[in-house]
Amino acid sequence: MEGLHTKPRFFLFSLFFLASAVLSGADIAELDDHWQKKAEEALARSRAAYHPDPEAVTNHFNTAVHLALAQARNDTRRALRGVHADKFKRRCVATNPIDRCWRCQKNWMKHRKKLAKCGKGFGRNAAGGKDGDFYVVTDPSDGDLVNPKYGTLRWGVVQDRPLWIVFARDMIIRLSEELMINSNKTIDARGANVHIAYGAQITIQFVHNVIIHGLHIHDIKPGNGGMIRDSLQHFGFRTKSDGDGISIYGSSDVWIDHCSMRNCADGLIDAIEGSTAITISNCHFSHHNDVLLFGASDSNENDSIMQVTVAFNHFGRGLVQRMPRCRWGFFHVVNNDYTHWMMYAIGGSQHPTIISQGNRFIAPPMRFAKEITKRDYATEDVWKQWTWRSEGDLLQNGAFFRESGTPNTRTFDRRDFIKAKPGTYSYSSMKSPMSQL
Ligand SMILES: *[C@@H]1O[C@H](CO)[C@@H](O)[C@H](O)[C@H]1NC(C)=O
Ligand SMILES: *[C@@H]1O[C@H](CO)[C@@H](O)[C@H](O)[C@H]1NC(C)=O
Ligand SMILES: *[C@@H]1O[C@H](CO)[C@@H](O)[C@H](O)[C@H]1NC(C)=O
Repeated sequence: MEGLHTKPRFFLFSLFFLASAVLSGADIAELDDHWQKKAEEALARSRAAYHPDPEAVTNHFNTAVHLALAQARNDTRRALRGVHADKFKRRCVATNPIDRCWRCQKNWMKHRKKLAKCGKGFGRNAAGGKDGDFYVVTDPSDGDLVNPKYGTLRWGVVQDRPLWIVFARDMIIRLSEELMINSNKTIDARGANVHIAYGAQITIQFVHNVIIHGLHIHDIKPGNGGMIRDSLQHFGFRTKSDGDGISIYGSSDVWIDHCSMRNCADGLIDAIEGSTAITISNCHFSHHNDVLLFGASDSNENDSIMQVTVAFNHFGRGLVQRMPRCRWGFFHVVNNDYTHWMMYAIGGSQHPTIISQGNRFIAPPMRFAKEITKRDYATEDVWKQWTWRSEGDLLQNGAFFRESGTPNTRTFDRRDFIKAKPGTYSYSSMKSPMSQL
């Protein structure tokens, strides 16, 4: 969603619905309180999750990348010295610190929750359902939105306790309406081929601690709205949903990893309304216009706490713009591979800080679209104050990044500033960002 009119995505209970007597025991004041309370708690959590020294987080991230690569090189050296050269050819390679943390371990399936410790960047503290039980999705249907059936994805995500959600088999889930994810959940599709497609979107609203890993999300449509459960304690009427892939609204500690996303009705991922502590990593994005939107309103100062890491993603075929489009906050865009865009890659308004490091940018053939960056709603004498920096990016086919901000402020004059791995690393280490397990 985008625009000046950021509408609340939930309706407080109205007399109309009481009159239609769909529900019994619903109390207006109580329902009003429900969302009001959740919004306030969520903003307090977002403020607590905000890191006062974001450069410490970018440094931490870059250090982890250097270490992972050094370890991978050592592994290779060791393997080459060994006798089983044939085995070496088939070995599992994970050169980025997130994947290295779990992916090459033969028994990762027995230790799924280890993933919760593998996050990096601003979303690194997302614990998901680490402290909860496993719940296995066996049923792809999505019939009852108020009392979801046991075995469905919807049943799992609305529980009030932490859950680590996995899938019994490959499946396509067509959501009838928005899927409201409650706090402390991991959706872990490793080992199964799970598509969320042809239906409504995933919504992460006023909650915290969510990990989404390994989903294919595509062809998402706007939803009509209606009565939808968001937690065990509560369900209520929701208005139409936009048809984003994933909508993150007033939420914190969110990590989206290894998702493949394309062709949704609105954004692929929107993070808005005071959301923060987010990492989007190892995803493959394609065939879409508005890809990633961080902050939807130039007037919502709550978004100044927004801190997002975008790392190890492949921005691929058929993409147009917003990879990402940022407002207000601090954005670390690092070691991504941009092979396609039609208008621009990284844009923003309202003085966001954008640190672009070690990405590869291949500009499209069109002469007018070589610039990676785009500023909106500001004259040059205003935007030249914004800190937008490019360091170690690999620029191909005429791509250029227009930097701004005083070079010797913040990140780049710190003596402890750690350079990212250069853009050459971004594509050599990411040939196939979707893990085929
Ligand atoms: C790589 O191997 C060398 C030599 O064995 C060792 O000194 C170094 O600490 C290793 N580096 C990493 C990151 O494991
Ligand atoms: C989520 O888990 C954390 C850590 O265990 C806990 O403090 C928090 O209250 C949980 N949130 C909800 C909404 O249950
Ligand atoms: C910022 O958050 C507070 C607390 O939830 C809310 O009252 C206020 O309306 C928000 N500001 C905007 C511009 O949305």
